Amino acid sequence: MRALVINCSPVKNGATAEVARIVAEEIAERYEVKSVSIDDYRFSFCRGCRACHKTGVCVQDDDAALLMREFESADVIVAVSPSYWADVPGQFKAFIDRCTPWCNTHEPHASIGTGKKGYAVALRTGPNMAECERIIQTIKHFFGHLEIACAGSLGLCSIESNADVGPRKEEIVSFAGNI
Ligand SMILES: Cc1cc2nc3c(=O)[nH]c(=O)nc-3n(C[C@H](O)[C@H](O)[C@H](O)COP(=O)(O)O)c2cc1C
Repeated sequence: MRALVINCSPVKNGATAEVARIVAEEIAERYEVKSVSIDDYRFSFCRGCRACHKTGVCVQDDDAALLMREFESADVIVAVSPSYWADVPGQFKAFIDRCTPWCNTHEPHASIGTGKKGYAVALRTGPNMAECERIIQTIKHFFGHLEIACAGSLGLCSIESNADVGPRKEEIVSFAGNI
């Protein structure tokens, strides 16, 4: 079984990367793990042209399709996202918009295959879990339209930098144990 772990932050060595690293490490005995960062990929914004609603293909050809190939080859997808202004970072949202060719609300649409499971992890500096829930909902919505079954989520408040992640390792390890 293959797992894809995505750092949805534009920061490659920050708190999100550290949470993603712990998850990847914990599941490595049970899955063949591929870890990626949204910042590894270069893609343009969705233009909202809706050509893909008729064709299932984007008019733009860039790394968005490369990242979707990673989704295609995974059985399990773990998206780890920080809160940027109470939502996912713009880079990840731009990627979600570019997944419209795969969105199951129009026919024809592209498909990454069936039977995949997804997990959503959100972290933030502030203390209120409702903001993490909002980010988890964004990821669940994304997974839902790709027909990835959301099988679990984790919200982590009060995390500003990677130094704050170590003391939360137990929570992250316990979550990863259920993946
Ligand atoms: C542009 C920006 C916006 C942010 N907005 C919020 C916010 O709305 N709420 C919050 O709790 N934390 C916010 N944060 C803090 C991050 O969620 C937190 O520091 C997280 O650990 C950053 O992870 P990263 O360094 O891996 O991106 C923001 C950070 C940045 C850089």
